[in-house]
Amino acid sequence: MPAELSPIDKAKFAAARRAVDFVEDGMKVGLGTGSTAAWMVRCLGELVREEGLRITGVPTSSRTADLARQVGIPVVGLDEAKWLDLTIDGADEFDGELNLIKGGGGALLQEKIVATASDRMIVISDASKEVVSLGAFPLPVEVVPFGWQTTRALIEEMLISVEVLGRQTTLRLNGSQPYITDEGNHIVDLHLNRISNPRQLAMALNQIPGVVENGLFIDICDMVIIGGPDGAVELR
Ligand code: 5RP
Repeated sequence: MPAELSPIDKAKFAAARRAVDFVEDGMKVGLGTGSTAAWMVRCLGELVREEGLRITGVPTSSRTADLARQVGIPVVGLDEAKWLDLTIDGADEFDGELNLIKGGGGALLQEKIVATASDRMIVISDASKEVVSLGAFPLPVEVVPFGWQTTRALIEEMLISVEVLGRQTTLRLNGSQPYITDEGNHIVDLHLNRISNPRQLAMALNQIPGVVENGLFIDICDMVIIGGPDGAVELR
């Protein structure tokens, strides 16, 4: 473990270190985005450089692609790889059924496409992201820039018919400008506080024209590895 890590980074590192034990020689691996996933990319890079592990990485963002190349992981796009053995990624929240909220880092679209095209998805996390009900973390929804205010109004109208505790929405900003995803879209964050039926909400959101994808990952994750000060535990 790198020296002088904060307790939270120790936990992220512990989860990442355990997750790379599931990576085997010759695998095609989806590389998630965020600070926890970055530890996993560094750990994998070390195995590639120092132990000759042969893998092909499929990054879920331009940030992760840059980091993977820096640490020596060969990377290709999803269409070249076609189907992946495993994706390892972080999450903003996970519940006991391994449903997730993702997209705090703005990469939910590529993350969902890559995880769905994988035999298995492992989420790595510290314990703070475990929740009884999803929704305290604002739910990111990726929308096309064309008519985004209309799309946002349609989302707000739809929210009236689902069981949630809050219904405020905000356009994600980068400084004073709208945040732009790797796919050139905007993100509307939904402040729902508690989502009673994540599956129903995920489907309702994706029915709205202008919505590209939402950050609810339902039935996609196979295992969560929770890192802590004394190692990591697996939740399946
Ligand atoms: C990016 C994500 C990240 O996995 C999520 O935001 C967790 O990030 P971090 O590990 O930095 O807490 O979904 O879109």
